[in-house]
Amino acid sequence: MDSGHVWLRPRGAGLSNDLSAFWHELNAVVRAGGWRVFEMGPVMGHPMPLLGRAASRPDAPNLLIAAGFHGEEPAGPWGLLRFLGSAQMRTTLELVNLAVLPLVNATGFAAGRRFNDRGENPNRGYSPGPDARALSVEGKVLKRHWAVLRRLGAHGVLACHEDRSVTRSYVYTYEPGRRPGPFSRSLAHALSRYSALHPNGTLNGCPVRDGVIFNRHDGSFESEMARQGVPATACLETPGMSPLAVRIQAQAHAIETFVLQRAKATRQ
Ligand code: NI
Repeated sequence: MDSGHVWLRPRGAGLSNDLSAFWHELNAVVRAGGWRVFEMGPVMGHPMPLLGRAASRPDAPNLLIAAGFHGEEPAGPWGLLRFLGSAQMRTTLELVNLAVLPLVNATGFAAGRRFNDRGENPNRGYSPGPDARALSVEGKVLKRHWAVLRRLGAHGVLACHEDRSVTRSYVYTYEPGRRPGPFSRSLAHALSRYSALHPNGTLNGCPVRDGVIFNRHDGSFESEMARQGVPATACLETPGMSPLAVRIQAQAHAIETFVLQRAKATRQ
């Protein structure tokens, strides 16, 4: 049975699948940071908030960060929360127009289970073709708001995932061109500070090099954003076999790296 992948959060904060703690802590961050909240749900009785915050610069890039597609990958949502809570203390958030989907699959998160309560994969079915039939109930909500999300992520989209079965980190990235550029390398480097990168070779049938699986189109949220022209999209994968505290730090740091890299790249 694919359920019950639950860890203790650092510093005695409780269990990784505590949904009410997650909403409670998110609300505190939202209030302190002056975020606008647009509610896209409910989805199966749970909220699916979209947060937004504008930069002070009028020409700032539009970035979208999404977490919690898979319920057994809790360092994504918790790491995003860590980033949001700490970034408010600094100037990072002033550099970009940031939109955030903090938790896409609430039912999976609460169960510590990859798929939602209907057994659907919330990160498949976004691209046209036969696989579009696999679109989950969460995916249908995101698709309904796709034009808005595409605009909010016009200069970069980041999805925060984990890989439960590995001890090393890696990242799926999508960039124009045939080789990973500074965007891809910066994310792999950020993750490498917390867990060694996956060795060169193949992983899930994909070539992986220097911790990067490049331009792998699979109908995922990030893949479809790239296919529709977002110039830099990525999917972080922290190793589920590492301690949760390390994975949360890695996610928060890689998210900040994403924001700073995009802010710099779009200024040039
Ligand atoms: Ni995942």
